[in-house]
Amino acid sequence: MSENSVTITDNRNGSQAEFEILNPVVGNSCIDVRQLNAKLGLFTYDPGFQATASCKSDITYIDGDEGILRYRGYPIEQLAEQSNYLETSYLLMYGELPTESQYREFEHSIKHHTIVHEALMQFINGFNNNAHPMAMMVGVVGALSAFYHDSLDISDPQHRDLSARRLLAKVPTIAALCYRHASGKPPVYPRNKLGYIENLLHMMFSFPSEDYLVSPIAARAMELIFVLHADHEQNASTSTVRLSSSSGANPYACIAAGIASLWGPAHGGANEAVIRMLEEISNPSEIPGYVKRAKDKDDDYRLMGFGHRIYKNHDPRATIIRKACNDLLDELEGINQPMFEIAKQLERIALEDDYFVERNLYPNVDFYSGIILKALDMPLNMFTVVFAMARTAGWISQWGEMMTDNEQRIGRPRQLYMGDELRDYVDIRQR
Ligand code: ACO
Repeated sequence: MSENSVTITDNRNGSQAEFEILNPVVGNSCIDVRQLNAKLGLFTYDPGFQATASCKSDITYIDGDEGILRYRGYPIEQLAEQSNYLETSYLLMYGELPTESQYREFEHSIKHHTIVHEALMQFINGFNNNAHPMAMMVGVVGALSAFYHDSLDISDPQHRDLSARRLLAKVPTIAALCYRHASGKPPVYPRNKLGYIENLLHMMFSFPSEDYLVSPIAARAMELIFVLHADHEQNASTSTVRLSSSSGANPYACIAAGIASLWGPAHGGANEAVIRMLEEISNPSEIPGYVKRAKDKDDDYRLMGFGHRIYKNHDPRATIIRKACNDLLDELEGINQPMFEIAKQLERIALEDDYFVERNLYPNVDFYSGIILKALDMPLNMFTVVFAMARTAGWISQWGEMMTDNEQRIGRPRQLYMGDELRDYVDIRQR
């Protein structure tokens, strides 16, 4: 019997089998249960994959108890402070920080893929003006697979790389076009002399009739949001991307599936929920009533943007973004809406009140990113789209990793069948 194994005994019949323990570089070890059915005729039952690793990955490491997030081994704090979104994307995709010439080549390539096929405009114009931009994103990003046939052979590394770069380059263009359409504004084409984030702000907020100066404070805050949201290991949308691509589906369709998953309120909708909560509170004098409700065991009401499923002591991203949020509110002129005062008071209460302190319910990254996006005049229905743009780097990196992983199989979970036993069909007149 190997020391690095566990033995499972089936107490119903005494049968036993040994299973190898797989050790990670850091983090939890895993029992390799791939032979469980063959050896013991059993499956594991784990809804929501709470205790199941679905893949091996070299990309992102999270320790929720310690509040650690690393991309390719680099602490998120260092990347947030010293890197930018494009460089971080390169790191996620290729595993190493780029040299200067690699970075220049990458930046040039991404900038020169920002334009979308003009016929895609017909898709966008086909949506009603009241269409949610995430609905448009799911459709239009998926539609890219109908336009770029020269990069759909997923067995070819060059095709895969081209698709990944196209996605990184075109998703912001599509997002901005969706927003412009939904708000009845004329489309704005990308400007290659601008940086990645500046270009996004330009495409969203400029008008053909006048020059638009991208505010450096706004660009910096947005850059930070993008770096902090670039990847978060095997969350629901990333797992969706992996599961859809496990069948050999093309990358554009798989990223569209990831966007669909992210759209769910339990995943990408939290920062939007923060602003809706602040709007509902509407006046600082109402705060005590809402806090009382949040603390009341018999009331389902929760303060949005507080607590986190994974980070139980602190969310490293929240610590980083909190400062950027405060700097932005201090520096932007005219930001004295009651909403931001309410946010500051709620933050203070959460950091001092015993109920929140005892349960480690500190403001999470969504609390601050929601406030930043609001302060940048980002429309509420674009909040999840911002998240989708940022997460594209993670999705394509995880997809690329999966494509070269020989151990990956088509995703095919098992089930615990709890339905009827065998029964005979009854004629409709006898039911
Ligand atoms: N406001 C008030 N009380 C809360 C809140 C909150 N936002 N969050 C948790 N609590 C309380 C719970 O009532 C519970 O109290 P109890 O121990 O007296 O029963 C305790 O804190 C622990 O809460 P759980 O629900 O067990 O924590 P869990 O890890 O399951 O939930 C979650 C985490 C879902 C994020 C939760 O904190 C929440 O609903 N927050 C608000 C929504 C939000 O901001 N979501 C985005 C987070 S992003 C993410 O988690 C992927």
